[in-house]
Amino acid sequence: MVAFSAQGHLNPMLRLGKRLISHGLHVTIATTHLQPGRRLFKPSSSSSATGHDIDFLFYSDGLDGRKVDIDTFMDSLSQHGPTNLTKLIHQNYHTAPSDANNRVSNPFVPWAANVAHDLGIPCAMLWIQPVALYAVYYRYYRNLNPFPTLTDPDLTVNLPGLPPLRTEDLPSFVLPTNTFGAFSKLFSEMFGAMEKHASWVLANSFHALEADVIINSSKDLFPVVPVGPLVDPSLLGKGEEEEADGAVNLWEVDHSCMEWLDEQAAGSVVYVSFGSLATLSADQSASLERALKEGRWPFVWVVKGTEAGELSTSSGGGQGIVVAWAPQTKVLAHRAVGCFVTHGGWNSTLEAVAAGVPMVVYPQWSDQPTNAKLVEDVFGVGVRVRENGDVKMVVGSEEMGRAIREVMDGPKSEQIKGNARRLKIAAGEAVAAGGEGTSKVSVRKFVDEIVGR
Ligand code: UDX
Repeated sequence: MVAFSAQGHLNPMLRLGKRLISHGLHVTIATTHLQPGRRLFKPSSSSSATGHDIDFLFYSDGLDGRKVDIDTFMDSLSQHGPTNLTKLIHQNYHTAPSDANNRVSNPFVPWAANVAHDLGIPCAMLWIQPVALYAVYYRYYRNLNPFPTLTDPDLTVNLPGLPPLRTEDLPSFVLPTNTFGAFSKLFSEMFGAMEKHASWVLANSFHALEADVIINSSKDLFPVVPVGPLVDPSLLGKGEEEEADGAVNLWEVDHSCMEWLDEQAAGSVVYVSFGSLATLSADQSASLERALKEGRWPFVWVVKGTEAGELSTSSGGGQGIVVAWAPQTKVLAHRAVGCFVTHGGWNSTLEAVAAGVPMVVYPQWSDQPTNAKLVEDVFGVGVRVRENGDVKMVVGSEEMGRAIREVMDGPKSEQIKGNARRLKIAAGEAVAAGGEGTSKVSVRKFVDEIVGR
C-alpha cells in the first residue's frame, strides 16, 4: 500500500491493511518520512504501533527534511516519488516486482498507479472520502456537469444521487476561488491514472450510508466499491491497547481525558476536535469557548500543540478538559459523550457514525463543507453551524450554542439521536466479522481477486 503521509490518509490505509491481513494477506505500507510542518513519522514496523503485522517502508520525497509549503511539497513528491518508489520496490522484492501482488494507493499519490503499471503490478485505489466526494470531483474534473465559475459563482450543482449543492456545500477545491493549485493538478492526474490503470477503486464508506450516490455513480462513473467503515465498529473503545482500532498517531496521545469522562453523566459531554490539519483562529476558538461556558456543557477539547494558548482556560477551567491529542475513537465510544463538534474530516465523521455520536459540523475547507451537508441533510445525524442563514468561517457563540443545543436536547435532538443509533447499527452490520454485510463481502471479493481464487 502506498500512503500519503498525513494522519487522515494513514488511518484509513492502516485500517484497510488490517482488514486485508485478517484475510491472510501480507501488507506493507510505503510512505514518505516527512510531511511539511509535521512530526517525523517513522515507526520501524507498525506491529509496535498497531499490534498488527503491517510492515513499513519509506521512500524519499526529495526534500531531505526541508520544510516547504504544501504546493512545493506536492510538486517534489510527484517529481521524486515515482523513481524513489520504484527503487524501493526493486530493493525489497528481490525476484521480480510482481511478487508484490497488488498495489493499493490513495488519491494524493496518483502517480503510484503509473509506477504499478510500469512494473506490471495490478493496482487499486483507496478513496478516503465519502463516495459523494468521489462523484463531485469526478464530475468536476471530467467536465461531466456544470459547476460554479467566476462569471456564475452561485450556480447550484445538481448531481445524480445527491441533494442540490450550493456553493457553500461544495468542496473548496472545485470553487472558482480555490487557491490550492496543487490539489487541482493532483485530482486531474488521479482520475487520469485511475481510468488508465486501476482495477479497483475502494471507498471508505458503506452502502446503507450513501446508497443513492453509490447506485447513481455506478451507472456512469468508474465503479467505486464501498468497503467501510474502515474503523472497526466492534473494536471502538474496546481494549486497553492504544491502537485497538488499527490507527497510528503522529502525535503523542493524552489519555487523561478518559478517567475524567468516567466521572461524567451519560450523554452529557461535548467532544471538540478539528482533526490533524485544521487550526481554529483566536476568534473561532473564543466563540466556541463562550458557547461551551454559556451552555455549561462538560467538554473534552483537543487543542493541538500548534494552537496551544488560544484557549483562555487552557486547563478546561473545571468545566472541561483540554488535551493536545485525544484517543479519539475511545472518546467517541465513551457513554458520557453526547455530541461531537467536528470540522467534518471524513475519518472523524465516519468514526462518529460508527460510534453513534451526533455531530455539530464546523467545516473549514476541502471536502468538509460537503461532509457537513451530508451529515445534516442526507444522514440526518447532526447540524451544521450557520450565521444568519449563511455559512461563515467565524461563527458567533450564539450560533455555536444553538447548534450544540439542537443536538443535545433541542426539538430535533431525538430524531438526530435516533438516526445516529440506526446508522451505528448499519455501520456494524456492513463490516461485521463472520457476517455477510455489503462491505465485508466486497473486501472478500477484492482479496479473492488478488490471490486469484
Ligand atoms: C484530512 C482532511 O482535512 C479531511 O477533510 C479529509 O476528509 C481527510 O484528510 P484530517 O483533517 O486530519 O484529515 O481529519 P480526519 O479525516 O477527521 O482525520 C483525523 C484523524 O485523526 C481521525 O482518524 C481521528 O480519530 C484522529 N484524531 C484526531 C485522533 O486520534 N486524536 C485527536 O485528538 C484528533
